[in-house]
Amino acid sequence: MLKIALIIGSTRPNRFADHPAKWMADGAKARSDLSIDVLDLRDYPLPFFNEPAPPLYSPGGKYHEPAADAWRQKIGTYDGFIATVSEYNHGPTAVLKNAFDSAFFEWNRKPIAFVGHGGAGGARAIEHLRGVAIELQMAPIKHEVNIAREPYLGVLQGKSLEDFTYLNEARTALFDHLVWWGNALKAARQAA
Ligand SMILES: Cc1cc2nc3c(=O)[nH]c(=O)nc-3n(C[C@H](O)[C@H](O)[C@H](O)COP(=O)(O)O)c2cc1C
Repeated sequence: MLKIALIIGSTRPNRFADHPAKWMADGAKARSDLSIDVLDLRDYPLPFFNEPAPPLYSPGGKYHEPAADAWRQKIGTYDGFIATVSEYNHGPTAVLKNAFDSAFFEWNRKPIAFVGHGGAGGARAIEHLRGVAIELQMAPIKHEVNIAREPYLGVLQGKSLEDFTYLNEARTALFDHLVWWGNALKAARQAA
C-alpha cells in the first residue's frame, strides 16, 4: 500500500481548504491501494527558508533550522503527495511554497497531485506548483481536482463536495493515476 501525505496548503483562520482535505481523506478510506496521512501546515510552523546553503549543496540534505529539518525528514517517509491548493493572487500560498522549499531530496522521484479551489478552481496556482515540483525532481501528475465557483459557493451554502458527481469522478481519477505513478516510481527508486 502506498503511503501518501495530504498537505493542507493554507493556514489562515476560516480556511476553505479543510473541506477538500476532509473530502479527499474520506475518499481514500474506501481504497486498499493507498493510505493517507493529513499533514496540516498549521502543525508544522516552518520558518521562512533560512538556510546558509541551497539544499542541493547541504551535506546529507540537512537543514540547520530544526523545524525545517523535522519537516524534511517527515516528507522522506512518504511515497507520494497530494496538496490542497488555495489560490492567492494567481499563485499558491506562501506557506505552501515555503513547505516545498523546506525539503529537497525527500521530494525527489515521487509523484504529486493537486486539489485546487478558488474562482478558477485553483488552476493558476496549480500551474505555478507544477514548475516547482519539476525543479524538486517530482512527477506532478496530469489529473487534478478543480473546485471552482459553483461547488465552492455550494459548500459555503451548506452543500458537501460529495454532492458533485464530476468532482467525485475527478477524485477517483486522481487517486488511480497517483497510485500508478507512485508504484512505478517506488519500484524504480528501490531498483536504483
Ligand atoms: C490573499 C488572497 C488572494 C486571493 N487571490 C485569488 C486569486 O487570485 N484567484 C482566485 O480565484 N481566488 C483568489 N482568492 C480567493 C481564494 O481562492 C479563496 O478565498 C480560497 O478560499 C482561499 O483558500 P483558503 O480559504 O483555503 O485559504 C484569494 C484569497 C486571498 C485570501
